Amino acid sequence: MKSPSPEEPRRGFLIASINGLMGLITAALALPSAGYLLGGSKAKRPADWVPAGDLTKLEENVPEQVIFERVRRDGWKTVKEKASAWMVKTADKQVVAFSPVCTHLGCAVSWDGSAKSFACPCHTSSFGTDGKVLSGPAPRALDRFAVKLDGSTILLGEIRPADKA
Ligand code: FES
Repeated sequence: MKSPSPEEPRRGFLIASINGLMGLITAALALPSAGYLLGGSKAKRPADWVPAGDLTKLEENVPEQVIFERVRRDGWKTVKEKASAWMVKTADKQVVAFSPVCTHLGCAVSWDGSAKSFACPCHTSSFGTDGKVLSGPAPRALDRFAVKLDGSTILLGEIRPADKA
């Protein structure tokens, strides 16, 4: 019978060490993937509510453009950016906030006080104070921000596409 060589325990230790190291490397590579698959990307999270104005400073049925800062999540990146909305205070002291983006090809709409409508300079679409299409090629009403009030502070959330006009 052959006696074990003095190399045998060292070889076993080296093999166990290599296997342990491979296990650690596999875990280090697999954890981020598992986190993504189980937790989803940041882009799928709902938008945060951002303060964008004061209800007491709005005139009833007179749209006012507000500029606010929001955080946009683009994949794994988080970007702070300025955004704007057209706010209209309704007779029942609620607020409707429209996206300034024309639903035709994306030009910025502005309020035309004399015509009492939102006007798009690109292809002359116009929208009423309720956001509905009055004229032009726009296929649907202006999109709206989700709105909620915290006292008199107006908080804006995600933009919700309007239904087809
Ligand atoms: S982009 Fe507004 S009408 Fe075309």
